Amino acid sequence: MSIYDSLIRPLLFSLPAEPAHHAGLKALELAEIAPGLAKLIRHRVVKADRPALAATIAGLRFPNCIGLAAGLDKNAEALTGLFSLGFGAVEIGTVTPRAQPGNEAPRIFRLPEHQALINRLGFNNKGMQAAASQLSEQTWRPAPIGVNIGKNKDTPNENAVDDYLLCAEKLGPLGDYVVVNLSSPNTPGLRQLQEPKALEALLRSVRKTVSKPLFLKIAPDLADEGIDAAVDVARECGIDGLICTNTTIARPFEHPLAKEAGGLSGKPLTARANEVTRRAFRHAKGALPIIGVGGIFTANDVWERTRAGASFVQVYTGFIYGGPMLPKQLLDGVEALLRETRHATIAHLVGSDAQ
Ligand code: FNR
Repeated sequence: MSIYDSLIRPLLFSLPAEPAHHAGLKALELAEIAPGLAKLIRHRVVKADRPALAATIAGLRFPNCIGLAAGLDKNAEALTGLFSLGFGAVEIGTVTPRAQPGNEAPRIFRLPEHQALINRLGFNNKGMQAAASQLSEQTWRPAPIGVNIGKNKDTPNENAVDDYLLCAEKLGPLGDYVVVNLSSPNTPGLRQLQEPKALEALLRSVRKTVSKPLFLKIAPDLADEGIDAAVDVARECGIDGLICTNTTIARPFEHPLAKEAGGLSGKPLTARANEVTRRAFRHAKGALPIIGVGGIFTANDVWERTRAGASFVQVYTGFIYGGPMLPKQLLDGVEALLRETRHATIAHLVGSDAQ
């Protein structure tokens, strides 16, 4: 049992979810004090550069296939600490043009029996100026930094494109890739922008503004035809890939907290996120790279998601439950699976189970 399992997680889990989240993030921010140590941990302890697990998407190289999903470091404040843990990319945000407080607390709930979380944070963040100054100060960039962008709650959907353009212009040049997030369930009406017509108008505008790799993050609650349509529109608009998936509004079990509004993440999302990944990969005939996220906890989960069509995966809830050693554990585990199955690289496996 690791020190995280025996000591730190019980301590953090004795706090309500959001204060625990802030405590964890504060601890990671401390890495700024000792950047040399952070580098040592990443390169010598975790050994984050894993050629057999590296990925290249839209010309962007990821030194390994495990990234941190959006929502944990919303304001780009803990990048050095997060990179020290070995992530193959860190996605910041969701960032909106103006700072906003998000919904009223409590707004994150733990469901440990299901290895799950429900959150309705509602894009609480310090706004694009604050994120921009954090990003411009970040000199150590051992892996890509993704910038996940959204709209302010009080911006009506008719004007949503303006918010995405503002963020794209401000933050695009400071990150390595940009993510258009239209799939949070916690900003009223946001998911309606995934409808093909609205989607196309928005993506065409953002595409003109962003010269870096540009991805679209979709919801797991889209019907199959909705997934196909998102793939088609994304390809028509020159989007470089899909991120599948955000949290779900479904509640595939009974639990006293299941009635809480918000997005469900973690283990109960694994199967659906695999299905969405497989569907999108198949519909695009492999021509649209997919970043797989949702319920990844183990090396087998990474393996399965890769075979379903993901070129790269991200974790969030698995990291909350698994702790700071999770990236290393996943990387070691996937390398062991490669050896067992006599595959040279994970890239060979992408989509091998999509048919
Ligand atoms: C998220 N997620 C998220 N996604 C996003 O695009 N922008 C965001 O701001 C957030 N915020 C956020 C907060 C919290 C507390 C959670 C748990 C999740 C969604 C996240 O990036 C991911 O897509 C889902 O959580 C599914 O992955 P996991 O958590 O099952 O690994």
